[in-house]
Amino acid sequence: MREFVQKYYGEVLEQTGDLKTNACCTFEAAPEYVTAALAEIHDDVRARYYGCGLVLPDALQDCRILDLGCGSGRDCYLLSKLVGPDGEIVGVDMTEAQLAVAERYREYHSARFGYPKPNVRFYHGYIEKLDALPLKPDSFEIVVSNCVLNLSEDKEAVLAGAYRALKTGGELYFADVYADRRVPAEVANDPVLYGECLGGALYWNDFVELAKRAGFLDPRLITDRPIEITDPRIQEAAQGVQFFAATYRLFKLPGLEAACEDYGQTATYTGSIPYLPERFTLDKHHQFETGQALPVCGNTFDMLHGSRFRAHFDLHGDKSHHRGIFPDCGTTLPFDASGVATPGGCC
Ligand SMILES: C[S@@+](CC[C@H](N)C(=O)[O-])C[C@H]1O[C@@H](n2cnc3c(N)ncnc32)[C@H](O)[C@@H]1O
Repeated sequence: MREFVQKYYGEVLEQTGDLKTNACCTFEAAPEYVTAALAEIHDDVRARYYGCGLVLPDALQDCRILDLGCGSGRDCYLLSKLVGPDGEIVGVDMTEAQLAVAERYREYHSARFGYPKPNVRFYHGYIEKLDALPLKPDSFEIVVSNCVLNLSEDKEAVLAGAYRALKTGGELYFADVYADRRVPAEVANDPVLYGECLGGALYWNDFVELAKRAGFLDPRLITDRPIEITDPRIQEAAQGVQFFAATYRLFKLPGLEAACEDYGQTATYTGSIPYLPERFTLDKHHQFETGQALPVCGNTFDMLHGSRFRAHFDLHGDKSHHRGIFPDCGTTLPFDASGVATPGGCC
């Protein structure tokens, strides 16, 4: 499948409109500052964008970010703008034609953003083999990836590599395609369905288990949407499997617990993250209004306390008094066909 995927993204597809499904498309409404940054990205780079979500977490100033499967570099350049001249972006991809487009516009974007030198670099390589690239372990605040994990035949190695690359307190923030059940072999082995990001999609609960095995102990869903398959041939081949595009954030915090435990801790957002004066969204179940103390579980507390978000929160309490589990802290289906998250994520 690897050769097929390389050919698909390097030769068969020339632009977003060549895709046969809307799996590798992004429909999320972007905030104004993102739309403004997008307008600065070169048309050739944008034309070969095949991502399925917005992989732009908040509080990016000066961050070092690794993009797994960066393609033509659209997200790398967006991130380049948002981290500022003192941040750094590294993109990795295995398809030379895509990387060539990305590489061609390094100087262009650096000049466009007014930076003294480019803060983006690209490596040709495999995301399962990050160790083969000159990347130091524990050196990135954030790893992003946009519609790529499903294409990998060794997803465990990709997650393990992302974990190694991250600093403690860093996060893997990524968009991908998931299925509501394990994908039947006929779907998984169909090269076009695979190339279109459906065949290799993980059943969501297998993904959660895999993420935990890699050390990401409490995966948090950010957004999700059902994927519409309009092509009758692909619809028939999909055999009733419902696919979703979803964005998750996975913190590298070795101390997280298996469930959301209640210690009576609270978190208050100060409103100080750039572009977010009113509220901050940690995940689909946690939105913090500026100035309002919210009861949080031990894991949520640790995510805020142990990450770059610490500077933007007043955090109260410790773990000396356990009050039991937060109600509804289960592992029910996190997204449904209406695109609305079902209750039961956590807290
Ligand atoms: C659906 S496209 C997404 C590209 C890019 N993230 C974007 O949003 O435009 C998938 C990309 O992942 C790359 N890719 C797939 N499997 C890979 C692997 N094992 N190692 C490195 N790159 C890979 C492909 O070459 C392709 O550029």
